[in-house]
Amino acid sequence: MKDVNVGVIGLGNVGSGALAILNTNAEQIAQKLGFRLRVAAVCSRSVASLNLPDVPVDALRTADWRDVVTHPEVDVVVELVGGTGVAKEMLDGAIANRKSIITANKELMALEGADIWDRAIKAGINLAMEASVAGGIPIHTVLREGISGDRIVAIAGILNGTSNYILTEMERRGDSFDQVLAEAQALGYAEADPTADVDGYDARSKLAILSALAFGERITPGDIFVEGIRRITAQDFDYAHQLGHTIRLVCSAQQTERGLMLSVRPALIPQSTILAGVKGAYNAVWVKGHFGADTFYYGRGAGPNPTGVAVVSDLMRVAREIRSGSPERVSPFAHERLGVYRPVSITQQHRPYYLRFRVDDRPGIIAELAGILASKRIGLEAVLQLPCDTKHDLPFVITVESTSELAIREATEQMSKLDFLREPPLALPMEPPL
Ligand code: HSE
Repeated sequence: MKDVNVGVIGLGNVGSGALAILNTNAEQIAQKLGFRLRVAAVCSRSVASLNLPDVPVDALRTADWRDVVTHPEVDVVVELVGGTGVAKEMLDGAIANRKSIITANKELMALEGADIWDRAIKAGINLAMEASVAGGIPIHTVLREGISGDRIVAIAGILNGTSNYILTEMERRGDSFDQVLAEAQALGYAEADPTADVDGYDARSKLAILSALAFGERITPGDIFVEGIRRITAQDFDYAHQLGHTIRLVCSAQQTERGLMLSVRPALIPQSTILAGVKGAYNAVWVKGHFGADTFYYGRGAGPNPTGVAVVSDLMRVAREIRSGSPERVSPFAHERLGVYRPVSITQQHRPYYLRFRVDDRPGIIAELAGILASKRIGLEAVLQLPCDTKHDLPFVITVESTSELAIREATEQMSKLDFLREPPLALPMEPPL
């Protein structure tokens, strides 16, 4: 059968990983497909200075992405540039020229994926985006095909490797957030501007895509409550351990009676759960189906090889569809159409909560805090205080019975006005296993 020709735009980590796999694994890929994937064009702004040992000598090398999307031989355009600016023009250009698309672009697909997909369908081309979420974990394929016969009721994931690395190193070594972040930046594990990772925005884009796939609704990142990990301290891990829990940045989607509730936030999770065992830069997705119950997916969330595998596997599936003449045999969002999502406010979520205080110690503090909790009808569960040698900045924890996020917010807002508090209370939900 005829080769399928590929044009790759963006030759950074993921691009070079995908090209290396296409080159070094070419024979096995051809055996699996019955035809070859041929790299016909590559594009990078700095293409002239790149060595590109994995690119065939006869492939076009260009600094202008338009050369790739208009290339007469290219069947599939691989967009690995990222962001929502020029990448969108590239996808528009690919669609206009009826080239199928593979993308790793989580920001763009989270924001506009459903519209891009509609236009791809109209143009009769394929769209695949496995590499956009949890790099090496084939979670799109799972939701799109593997368990598509089930009705998903909940997802809980760890979708940002940088923040998981920081949290689990704080937990392991007892170091502060700032210390571990600075070290991760020096080693190149964390970006110079860490906002997208540590404030939860990267994970939020990924959850938006996974939720659209799982629940068949148009979910954009702005629909999702987000809170980052900057306020977590090493002492929070000590207290969490006392309670049989640990702390992770949890991406959660749950069908409730009110509708689909979505959040990305640090939470206490029981140490006995499989999610608590996810350490370092690993990602994981735990899916609960109405019929098939729990399934769990674990792997590397980033890196040239794991993400490169996702890109190449997408390429293989799209190439098969091109050669069999059946584009979009399974739509990228797993549903024929995405419905309208009506966001459910996180304030309606009910959970037990962990409240951590830092106080300038004096008699009567617990009584005052307990009085505020009682006035909001929040039941106190436990008070914990680990040994501490300073009375002027004394941490302690109160856990409370299941209550609404709204009640907790009202209570902590009232507490924040108390003069003995060194900072507003930190409130973390205690997430039950799915
Ligand atoms: N910055 C992401 C992370 C990897 O730390 O998981 C790319 O999505």
